[in-house]
Amino acid sequence: MYKKISLMDKEIENAINKELFRQEEHIELIASENYVSEDVLMATGSILTNKYGEGYPGKRYYDGCENVDAVETLAIERLKKIFNVKYANVQPYSGSTANAAAIAALVEPNGKIMGMSLSSGGHLTHGYNVNFSGRFYQSFSYDVDENGLLNYDNILKLAKEIKPDLIICGYSAYSREIDFKKFREIADEVGAFLMADIAHIAGLIAAGMHSSPVEYADVITSTTHKTLRGARGGIIMTNNEEISKKIDRWIFPGYQGGPLFHSIAGKAVAFNEVLQPFFKIYAKNIIKNSKAFSNQFQKYNVIIISGGTDNHLFTINVKQSYNLTGKEASSILQKINITVNKNTIPNDTQSPFITSGIRLGTAAMTSRGFSENEFKILANIINEALINHKDDNKLEELKLKVKELANKFPIKKSYWNEK
Ligand SMILES: Cc1ncc(COP(=O)(O)O)c(C=O)c1O
Repeated sequence: MYKKISLMDKEIENAINKELFRQEEHIELIASENYVSEDVLMATGSILTNKYGEGYPGKRYYDGCENVDAVETLAIERLKKIFNVKYANVQPYSGSTANAAAIAALVEPNGKIMGMSLSSGGHLTHGYNVNFSGRFYQSFSYDVDENGLLNYDNILKLAKEIKPDLIICGYSAYSREIDFKKFREIADEVGAFLMADIAHIAGLIAAGMHSSPVEYADVITSTTHKTLRGARGGIIMTNNEEISKKIDRWIFPGYQGGPLFHSIAGKAVAFNEVLQPFFKIYAKNIIKNSKAFSNQFQKYNVIIISGGTDNHLFTINVKQSYNLTGKEASSILQKINITVNKNTIPNDTQSPFITSGIRLGTAAMTSRGFSENEFKILANIINEALINHKDDNKLEELKLKVKELANKFPIKKSYWNEK
């Protein structure tokens, strides 16, 4: 279990300790969240935050960088080993800045990019109109088909019409395996670069539980804090030396300033954990749990987008299943200490602030030790809550069950002893 902290600043101390209590008492199903080990936490909270070091190991604009050089080099080498790539940049402050730098390295301003729409499960940085990617580039989007699946023939057809400079695959809310080879073929057919944003599935790929884009994509971007279970941030990888140089320049001095060495250390510690045998077991369990969780919902005739899951997440159509919006469903679940996020569904008639779906993920609670059995119990609790949401007594009873379950599976200090 994480420890409470003590600060001279009592207001911040209070907020952090209340957040610790919230994290322990709630069941966390936000697909993009996880619980880092105490080692990752300590590295991230270390004195490395004091150090400036614009540039890259061995080529800094500041002196006194010998120790942060060692940290950044270890992070890079470990990351290269995990994904079997030649070049890696571990400095991106987030997945979004990783994407900004990667796109800039491949496409001139006002060039054409093609990613999946937000409502189908894409990310803001894949060309959404209010994001940099939709403002500084001509952006076009593909959608999933009527079954909620990627349709490679439709994507090829659209790519032939648009002739994009860059195709982006990899998503925020897509529960099925991605065929990176097919994306490569499409990109080759229209002369486009291919970028794979593996922010969500990076941990699964690292463990060999999802196919890898390394052979196929020109550039791979990711976050480090989702299934990869590391400190918050981004990464960029490639096997192309020329592209790697452009990426490095677009991170610094292009989009960022001094590297966040505390965060890079937190990433490095997590990468070392990813390289251990226990991480493979973890990733396997995430998927096993996700399948059991979604199957249980289907037993209650709940509509899952794409009909199931191959990874750590899935989206429920709550409009059709419970006549609730995503916003309503997520706030009902919040009342019983279950945290999920509202999510658009393909062809959603509701805005991204309301939505018709909720997205559920198993990475975080698998870290706390949940197995298929606990996820089946949880599906039952969620189903009961969404059906009986007007019955306060019922919600109170379910909340007690959730608290009991959460308390039985405290947040872990370390994952090294897991079998
Ligand atoms: C597919 C994808 N790419 C990029 C990001 C952006 O990551 P960050 O929030 O760290 O900027 C996310 C975050 O949810 C994501 O799902």
